[in-house]
Amino acid sequence: MSTEMRRFRRDPLASIEHLRHRAPAAVFRLPWGDWCVGDADLARAVLREPEFNGGMSAFFGSLLPSRSNQVAVGRAVRDLLRARVPDFRDGLAAAVADLPATSRWPAAGTALVHRSLADLLLHPRTPSRLRRTVEQAARGGVLVRPPHVWQRAWAEVLRGRLLTGVAEEVAQRRASGTGEPRDVLDAVIGTCPGGMTDQAVAELFVVLFRAIVAPVGCTVAWSVLLACLHAPGSPWPWPVDRVVREALRHRPMAWMVVRPAPAGFGDVPVRAGEVLSVSPYLAHHDERHWTDPDAFRPDRWAEPGGHGPYLPFGTGPFTCAGALPAQVLITATVTALTDGARLTVTGGDERPVLADGLVPRPFTLHRSAEEVNDHDRCVATRLHEPDRP
Ligand code: HEM
Repeated sequence: MSTEMRRFRRDPLASIEHLRHRAPAAVFRLPWGDWCVGDADLARAVLREPEFNGGMSAFFGSLLPSRSNQVAVGRAVRDLLRARVPDFRDGLAAAVADLPATSRWPAAGTALVHRSLADLLLHPRTPSRLRRTVEQAARGGVLVRPPHVWQRAWAEVLRGRLLTGVAEEVAQRRASGTGEPRDVLDAVIGTCPGGMTDQAVAELFVVLFRAIVAPVGCTVAWSVLLACLHAPGSPWPWPVDRVVREALRHRPMAWMVVRPAPAGFGDVPVRAGEVLSVSPYLAHHDERHWTDPDAFRPDRWAEPGGHGPYLPFGTGPFTCAGALPAQVLITATVTALTDGARLTVTGGDERPVLADGLVPRPFTLHRSAEEVNDHDRCVATRLHEPDRP
């Protein structure tokens, strides 16, 4: 294993920052051989320009036959989530009420988000066996790749069961006909081309299940962890929406997105078809564009300048279809966790593990009823004032 690969395994973020600083050109090699765009302006251009973004989105793999089908599915799921935010809030209130005073994160965060979304993913009259299978899959490593080989093997078993169960449900719903979408599965069935097999529709549902729950859960975990580490023992001195925005900047779950390189790219010998990676993480930590980029500073979002390219949801033609509802769900969850409660963490640090994205290392969250004193009341009043940029 190369020295750089060892460094990467130890601390992936420090490793790619080191490679970027050392690189003479705007594009450099990653330890595993792919190219990475280090320059923030070029990164934004790669995500936006047609020469890098023609054809189909890799997000859906080869599950759908055309780009217009991909766009239609993304929009249908986004619209369903947007319309059902009130139901999400109801589920969230119950899930937060049941959260024990001490919980292990990030797993508890993903479970919390999954429980709050469960009725939106599969409506309550879906056979309870399938809903239990989804629950097991969410807890068993299907959402976020687990660290150990045996856990990954078990997650594959659960994923297989999930696909079988969802495919049976797809067949059932297709036979009886779906009207107004009641859940994400109806939205997917309603927009998929009729010729797709039940199995392919089920796979698409599982892609979306993971794409929705995992990054929302992990971003909630990063928001809670970073805010607690930077405001220990006190109510947070920042409004929740600033905390969430800053967590998405400082530790973007989607830290790397990839595109196939076109021929003759840049001033380095990139060959057509090689993998070109764009890192929202690097773009968010570029000192030429951001003031004090390595600091977790939610108040930067109340300041007029000092903001560079902000790409937690990508940008350009393949930008995240669910960016707006995702922000609403994350902010609602963090707000519910902090409402009337004081949060502290033990055992957490800012270094991520890489598991389909930047995931916080395990930490313990302690949540206790808030004792409101005069100082806190004063801070709380400030927090509820509207944000003035
Ligand atoms: C914190 C939460 C989320 C993050 C950080 C996130 C991040 C991203 C990113 C970076 C991309 C672009 C990938 C690329 O350029 O190759 C993407 C694509 C996508 N995301 Fe999200 N996402 C989140 C939540 C959601 C949710 C809730 C939905 C549900 C609708 C969703 C649906 C999609 C879809 C359908 C695409 C593919 C868009 C296309 O290619 O047309 N995402 N997401």
